[in-house]
Amino acid sequence: MRSSCEFRYYQKNYIHAATSNLLKFKGGVDAPLQGHIALTGDPTQMRVMWVSGTDDTPVVRYGKDPSLPLTAKGISKTYTKTDMCGPPASFTSFFRNPGYIHDVLLTNLTSSSDYFYSYGSFKIMSEVRKFRTQPITGSDESFSFLVYGDMGITDVPGAHDTAKYMIEEAAKGRSFVFHIGDISYAVGFGYIWEQWHALIEPYATIMPYMVGIGNHEQDHSSGGSKDPSGAPGEGWHPWWGNFGDDSGGECGVPMYYRFHMPDNGNALWWYSYDYGIVHFIMMSTEHDYREGSRQYKWLENDLRQVDRKKTPWVVLGGHRPMYSSQELLDDYIVSLGMQYYLEELFHKYKVDLAFWGHYHTYERTCAVYKHTCQSEGTGTTHIVVGSAGFALDLEGYFKVEWSRFHENDFGYGRVLVANRSALYYEWVRNKDKVVRDKVWLIKPDS
Ligand SMILES: [Fe+2]
Repeated sequence: MRSSCEFRYYQKNYIHAATSNLLKFKGGVDAPLQGHIALTGDPTQMRVMWVSGTDDTPVVRYGKDPSLPLTAKGISKTYTKTDMCGPPASFTSFFRNPGYIHDVLLTNLTSSSDYFYSYGSFKIMSEVRKFRTQPITGSDESFSFLVYGDMGITDVPGAHDTAKYMIEEAAKGRSFVFHIGDISYAVGFGYIWEQWHALIEPYATIMPYMVGIGNHEQDHSSGGSKDPSGAPGEGWHPWWGNFGDDSGGECGVPMYYRFHMPDNGNALWWYSYDYGIVHFIMMSTEHDYREGSRQYKWLENDLRQVDRKKTPWVVLGGHRPMYSSQELLDDYIVSLGMQYYLEELFHKYKVDLAFWGHYHTYERTCAVYKHTCQSEGTGTTHIVVGSAGFALDLEGYFKVEWSRFHENDFGYGRVLVANRSALYYEWVRNKDKVVRDKVWLIKPDS
C-alpha cells in the first residue's frame, strides 16, 4: 500500500515494550502495483492499467518475444476525497490516496497471439507477464471464460479461494474474467480497494478483467452532481426498488478511475464487445433501463446491430438479477421490475445467456420467457452467480417452475464457447472444486 510502517509491542496494561524497525515499501513509492488488463473490443488492442506513486510517463514494453522490443506510453489520473459524493468515502479518515492510476493502450497487435509485457516508468518496471490477444470477430476458434459477481476480499472459501482458482484457470488459458458487479466491497473504505486489487493482480495481468457496476460501487443518495456516470439527480431510485446509498459515498468514482472498459457505451457502466463468435454486453442495473432512458436506447441499438452471422451468441451481464427465486422479497420485486422493462427486449433480440449477481448464491433457470420455460434455444437462460466471496445469502427459495438448480455456497462460473451451435456452462464450488451444475446450450437452427 505504498506506506512505511512500524510494529509496536504492548504488554499487559498497554505498557509499550518494543518497536520494530521502520518497514519500507519494497521498490519504493514508484513501484508499479495492481496491474490488470482489459479488452477494448478491437482484436488488435489490449489495455494495460496499474497504479504507482509517481506520475512519470507510464510505459509498457511489449512484444511477441520476452526481449520486449516495442514501447507504448499512456496517461495517468488520480482521484481525491473531494471527488466522492459523500461519506464515508469523502472523509479524511476513510479515504486513502490511490496514487496515480495509469492507462496504456497497446495497438497494432496480431489477433489470437501471445505477447509478453512489462509496465511501469523509466525508474522501475514490473516483472514480465504474458497475455493472449482475442480472436477476430466471427472466428470459429473455441474459447472459455470465467464469470462471477460479489467478490470482496473475504477469506477462504470466499474471495481468496476464488482468486486462487482464477490463477489456476488463467494458467489453463482462459480468455477473460467477466465480473458482474459488487467488486471489492470497499464502500468508502479506500484501503479495501488496495487489498482487492492485490488479490486479483496475479491473474488480472494474464487474462483481461472485465467489470460491471454493482450497487456497492454506484448507489448513492447525496452528492449526485459528482457521479461520473452522468446519472441525473441522486441516480436511479425507482419506487419499487430497494436502491439506497450502498456505495458508501463512492458513487462509482473509484470504479471509473480504476477501470477503462470498451468505449462504445457509457464507460464501464454499459458497453459491449465481440469475442470470436460471441457478442458480450455489460449493462448497469443501477441506472435507469426503462424504455426511453439513455441506457435502454443504447442497449436496443446495440442489440439491433448484432450481426448474428458473425456472432451467433449474445451473452449479457448485469448486477441485479432478472430471475432469482431466492426468498428475498425486496430484491424479488426488483427482478419483476427488470422483467417488466427489459424482458421483451431480451426476447426480441434473442439474448442467449444472462449473468447476474447481487444475490450471494448460485442459481440457474431454464431458457425462460415470462416465467415459462421455452423450447431449447428460444429463451434466455439466466444465471445468478453472486457467489465469488461475499457473505452468503442463506434464505430459502420460492417454488417456481423455471428454476433448474440452486445452491447456497461459494463458487464461480466457467463457460466454454464450443462452436456456433453449442455452448457449455458449469458452476464450480469453491470448497471442493466440484462442478455442481452444468448445462449445454444448443442452437437448433445453427
Ligand atoms: Fe449487490
